[in-house]
Amino acid sequence: MSFHTKLLLLFAPSVLGLVQPNGVGRLPALGWNSWNAFNCDIDEDKFLTAAQKLKDLGLADAGYEYVNIDDCWSNKDGRDSTTGRLLPNTTRFPDGINGTAAQVHAMGLKIGIYSSAGTYACAGYPASIGNETIDAQTWAEWGIDYLKYDNCNIPSNWSDTCNACHPDYIDSQYLTANGTCLPNTPNLCPSGYDYSQSNTAERYRIMGEALQAQNRTILYSLCEWGTAGVETWGNNTAASWRMSNDINTSWARILNILNQNVFNLDYVNFWGHPDPDMLEVGNGLTLQQSRTHFALWAAMKSPLLIGTDLDNLDNDTLSILKNPYLLAFNQDDTIGEPAKPYSWGTNPDWTFNDTFPAEFWSGNSSNGTLVLLFNPYPNTLVKEAVWADIPGLMANGTYKVVEVWNDVDLGCQSGGIGLEVNANDTAVFLIQDCPSATSNLI
Ligand SMILES: *[C@@H]1O[C@H](CO)[C@@H](O)[C@H](O)[C@H]1NC(C)=O
Ligand SMILES: *[C@@H]1O[C@H](CO)[C@@H](O)[C@H](O)[C@H]1NC(C)=O
Ligand SMILES: *[C@@H]1O[C@H](CO)[C@@H](O)[C@H](O)[C@H]1NC(C)=O
Ligand SMILES: *[C@@H]1O[C@H](CO)[C@@H](O)[C@H](O)[C@H]1NC(C)=O
Ligand SMILES: *[C@@H]1O[C@H](CO)[C@@H](O)[C@H](O)[C@H]1NC(C)=O
Ligand SMILES: *[C@@H]1O[C@H](CO)[C@@H](O)[C@H](O)[C@H]1NC(C)=O
Ligand SMILES: *[C@@H]1O[C@H](CO)[C@@H](O)[C@H](O)[C@H]1NC(C)=O
Ligand SMILES: *[C@@H]1O[C@H](CO)[C@@H](O)[C@H](O)[C@H]1NC(C)=O
Ligand SMILES: *[C@@H]1O[C@H](CO)[C@@H](O)[C@H](O)[C@H]1NC(C)=O
Ligand SMILES: *[C@@H]1O[C@H](CO)[C@@H](O)[C@H](O)[C@H]1NC(C)=O
Ligand SMILES: *[C@@H]1O[C@H](CO)[C@@H](O)[C@H](O)[C@H]1NC(C)=O
Ligand SMILES: *[C@@H]1O[C@H](CO)[C@@H](O)[C@H](O)[C@H]1NC(C)=O
Repeated sequence: MSFHTKLLLLFAPSVLGLVQPNGVGRLPALGWNSWNAFNCDIDEDKFLTAAQKLKDLGLADAGYEYVNIDDCWSNKDGRDSTTGRLLPNTTRFPDGINGTAAQVHAMGLKIGIYSSAGTYACAGYPASIGNETIDAQTWAEWGIDYLKYDNCNIPSNWSDTCNACHPDYIDSQYLTANGTCLPNTPNLCPSGYDYSQSNTAERYRIMGEALQAQNRTILYSLCEWGTAGVETWGNNTAASWRMSNDINTSWARILNILNQNVFNLDYVNFWGHPDPDMLEVGNGLTLQQSRTHFALWAAMKSPLLIGTDLDNLDNDTLSILKNPYLLAFNQDDTIGEPAKPYSWGTNPDWTFNDTFPAEFWSGNSSNGTLVLLFNPYPNTLVKEAVWADIPGLMANGTYKVVEVWNDVDLGCQSGGIGLEVNANDTAVFLIQDCPSATSNLI
């Protein structure tokens, strides 16, 4: 009896995810990050402007709370020679990062920082491997609330002995139609390999433990590019983990990442979220592409980090980023699972295909069932949501339908609902029980 209890106590924690105080990391993070908008061209003013814009545009009220500094914030010449600490570039941050943090906090927002689990960050600035504790201490003292931890410049003695199957890093000749790797893929880890024992997992665990040891709650966001089977250990280590290489503004790349993340959706729940990378909404996508990108990222319960210059946001783009139905689904406090495809559409279910990924999606929420219909074709099509196909709905049911982009109540519908959907666009519906004619609610 006591033997069994002990076993449970020993083994239970290894399957649980990282849980932090005050619900930090329980839901996907919402905020803004400098990289997709400004790359290395950053300074304090850009962050204070972004923070002010989050407030003025109503984005903070909609839930966006993190103002995240990406690469290039530090002094490139190196650490403080006496204390060993990272130093801010004081040309870019004349008040220090702690000064910027104080001003962002005074606006009621939180602030994020960036480093790499290597010898240098991706743009050549000092990074954190071997100095995790002092860096975590420094950030905690500065008032940092979020760390994005990148994967550049890994010392050779930290490399992994074998690789997980990942479409971004293996030659496509070794990929099957369902996205798995052929057995003859070079340097593939044996089946059953425990990726939590990889050197990559260890590099990220060390920083996680250093953050946990601080007297400050810091959301930990892994950016190890989806390598080393991170989906199997990410939940134990951090609040979110990048599941692919970087996003960019090309529509093909956005669909490519979407298609990859479809295969991670069983790993999404409270406290642990695969991260298909920061939003490119506002960076030259069409309205239709922007809606699909935002809607599916929100529906997959991804972190939603706006990556555009908020000074130059048009109203249509702003209203996409503020869509209350999609944000409510993404931030649902009672249901942790994401929306998932219920049918691929053009291709057979579970086909791994970048240009024609899953088209028919649904997810349960505390306000009803969210349904998303993506049109990957270059022309307008009628897409239909058929109740009989959608998990949780009854074929013979009559449901109230709200069209989410325009907030239009389409009334009670039997059988399903159809809508014309433009090229690259996604129709989104919220399906709710119909108020019953015989109900006596007053
Ligand atoms: C991640 O860990 C949390 C906290 O233990 C747990 O509630 C959640 O179900 C885990 N996620 C998955 C997909 O297992
Ligand atoms: C600090 O930033 C300025 C302005 O971008 C740049 O010119 C300078 O090289 C940086 N200095 C260091 C030490 O990183
Ligand atoms: C860690 O700190 C030591 C002492 O300041 C320094 O020599 C070393 O270069 C640092 N490592 C990294 C990756 O910054
Ligand atoms: C930031 O840190 C510096 C150096 O430790 C200190 O002089 C300054 O007062 C701090 N600023 C704030 C706003 O805490
Ligand atoms: C790599 O070398 C450093 C010392 O240079 C050491 O601290 C670290 O543990 C080594 N990593 C591995 C995986 O052995
Ligand atoms: C994926 O396809 C391969 C053959 O191409 C098959 O052996 C494997 O069972 C499939 N895996 C899944 C999860 O469907
Ligand atoms: C942790 O920080 C709080 C205030 O932020 C302080 O009251 C408390 O004494 C600190 N605890 C330790 C162990 O440093
Ligand atoms: C759809 O995406 C393709 C590929 O980027 C593009 O050529 C086309 O203009 C887009 N159409 C709309 C309406 O977004
Ligand atoms: C955008 O919306 C704001 C506030 O609702 C309004 O004042 C402004 O005229 C709109 N701009 C355009 C171009 O429609
Ligand atoms: C729930 O759905 C109703 C429409 O039926 C809508 O008015 C309300 O804003 C929705 N609430 C959330 C949190 O999505
Ligand atoms: C992706 O799916 C489309 C539609 O079925 C098909 O025409 C195309 O050849 C597929 N692409 C690949 C790489 O298999
Ligand atoms: C709808 O179908 C379910 C079984 O799927 C059945 O139990 C129910 O009675 C049907 N309702 C109506 C109004 O026909």
